[in-house]
Order: sequence, then structure tokens, then C-alpha cells
Amino acid sequence: MDDYNRRHFIRTSIPGFLGLALALPGITAFATRANAKDGRIPENGPINWDAFLTAVERETAQQHLDHWNQAAYVKKAAALASRLNLKDPALAKAFEKSKSGLGNRRVDFYDLEKQLDFQVNLLQFEKNEQIKHHDHPDMTGVILCATGNIDVWNYDLIENPSGKNVLLAETGHATLTQGQVSTLTSKKRNIHRLQANHLTQLVDIFAPPYNKQRAQKSSWFNVDPEPVQQPSGPHKVYKATRR
Ligand SMILES: [Fe+2]
Repeated sequence: MDDYNRRHFIRTSIPGFLGLALALPGITAFATRANAKDGRIPENGPINWDAFLTAVERETAQQHLDHWNQAAYVKKAAALASRLNLKDPALAKAFEKSKSGLGNRRVDFYDLEKQLDFQVNLLQFEKNEQIKHHDHPDMTGVILCATGNIDVWNYDLIENPSGKNVLLAETGHATLTQGQVSTLTSKKRNIHRLQANHLTQLVDIFAPPYNKQRAQKSSWFNVDPEPVQQPSGPHKVYKATRR
């Protein structure tokens, strides 16, 4: 069994989410399309869900090499994410199905894919819903806005990195609309918060994926609403406490 078919064999997340019987015709269609192209990823233009996963799988496999460059990886993964065909039937079905969470007054999380080297999730925010300041220890993240409009703020720990009381530098702030991407690495912009301006759906790629150890190491932060007075420096700096 070659790598490509093995991945199809173990890939069950979207089918699990959608209901296996519903998704089976889709899986067959993807396999046919992918085999017709020998698993090759087109260099330009939109890519379907299957080609996207194949490309992400290849890129994230590099993380085990000594010379893995996270900054270069998130740039490549962001480029792939921005090419993802959001109308791909499997993805479109997942977006539609996630709407069953509307009105429940919380951000909704769904698994789209989980492999040894990465995971992909669908997050759905209603207007004004937010995820407060949190980190992703030892992980990279690539966040694609699939629908809607959302503000994302990124921070770096600049003092007492492993302590309870810390200083956060706001190193990024962007308003993402459809097709736009935000990234973080284990060293840069690793802490973020998100708040939706409209109904918003995100496709997040985390590499490596969450496991028990990384989940336990994760932190949430209570952050002062106003920045501290800084004599100089390009970024706003906030006092924060690890919860
Ligand atoms: Fe996050």
C-alpha cells in the first residue's frame, strides 16, 4: 500500500463528523480524483480537500528533521491553506453541518482530520464570540478564515516565560476575511486571542497535533485591559497572569 492509499485508509475524521454512510460516496470520488493525478499537487490555483491534506501531510512530515524551519513551514502551509477550495464537497458539507451549533452561545470545534504529524479543525464563531488569550506550546498553527470576519491578536512572551506573572508583547493584529490566514510558531506569535465580527468559520492546522502532554502544558492568560507604559518599543505590552 503506497503512502497515498495508506492515508486514505486511516483517514476517518470528516466521515466520522458527517456520518460514514453520508460521506462514503465522497471518499470514493476523492480517491479517484487523487489517483488520477498520482497524488501530485498542482503548483497553482485552487486545490481540493484531498490534495490539501496530501500537501500538508508532506510538509508536516518534515518536522522530525533537525533542520525543520517552522517559519518557512507556516509560510508554505499558509499558502496551501489560501488555495484550499472551500467549495470542495466534503468541506462544504462540514461547514453546513457545523451550523447545527448556531445559537448555543459558544465557539464550536469539530475535527476534520487527525494524523500523527498534524490535525485540522473547523471552528465556528458567532458574532462577538471569542477565544481568550491562550498559547500552543511546542506547536505551530495556521488559521484560515473560510467564511466571515474575525480579529486575531498575537503575542510573544517577553518576560518570565515559564512563570505565573508574565509580560506579553502584542506582535500582531489582523482582521481576517475569507481566504486570509494567520500563523504562529512555537517561538513567535504563539499566544493569540480571537474575536469574531460576524458568523465566522475557521480551518485550523496544528503541527504537531495536540496530545495529552501538549494539552496539559497549554495555558490561558488573564491579561490587563490596558497596556503598561513603555518608554520605547514597537509593540504594546500587557501584564498577564497564567491561569
Ligand atoms: Fe489557539
